[in-house]
Amino acid sequence: MRKRIRLGFNIDHVATVRNARGDDYPSPSRAALIAQNHGADSITVHLREDRRHIQDQDLIELKKKIKIPINLEMALTPEMLKIALKLKPKFVCIVPERREEVTTEGGLNLNYKTNYLKKVIRLLKNKNIQVSLFIEPSLKSVVMAKKMGSDNIELHTGKYCRFFRQGNNLNTRKEFLRIKEAAKLGNKLNLGVHAGHGLNFITAKKISQITEISELNIGHFFISESIFFGIANVLKKFNKILNR
Ligand code: PXP
Repeated sequence: MRKRIRLGFNIDHVATVRNARGDDYPSPSRAALIAQNHGADSITVHLREDRRHIQDQDLIELKKKIKIPINLEMALTPEMLKIALKLKPKFVCIVPERREEVTTEGGLNLNYKTNYLKKVIRLLKNKNIQVSLFIEPSLKSVVMAKKMGSDNIELHTGKYCRFFRQGNNLNTRKEFLRIKEAAKLGNKLNLGVHAGHGLNFITAKKISQITEISELNIGHFFISESIFFGIANVLKKFNKILNR
């Protein structure tokens, strides 16, 4: 039997809907409170450089209102580091960011700005913030993440979910095995192993069968389903599917 898998609810797209009108609703912190009351383990937010999702004020409000941990996704920049050190969320996940992308398209390039990345990890850890790196599910990246001093890794499941959606059975299987091997190695190296991107009810269930993965972070599908069924009901369904 696997240990109860943790579920992080990414509320970025509540902010996207709000920002589409420049109004003050729907409120991301209201969504976070509902999620908290229905068993989400953490609230994930990505403060992007262009602030297209969550804004700085949302972070302040979340920190004030939410009891469950905040998992702040951030790019590797001095501006984001400063914000993270001030906010002191329980978790930070360092992600790659390109202005023109629609969403985080791949894992972090760990060969780029390596010394700065190590420094950022150290500074965050000094403030008791647990650090995760959002990486491709490759053995090399897992080893590098460990060497950099990260506490956790988050394996990018975007490719797996795309292959699954396309009905490409061979590639789906291959990518699943890649994620599984990366998760096993991460576990062996004493890293916390998380996973996320593109997950829905079916793919989340499949990925949760990799027992070395201790946390899933789910956003876009979560919010999309919530339009029809409400956050509480979608969470209940995830809890049931993931045997939580
Ligand atoms: N994990 C990380 C590190 C991400 O950057 C994202 C997207 O913001 C997610 C999980 C959630 O992805 P999705 O919105 O596709 O569920």
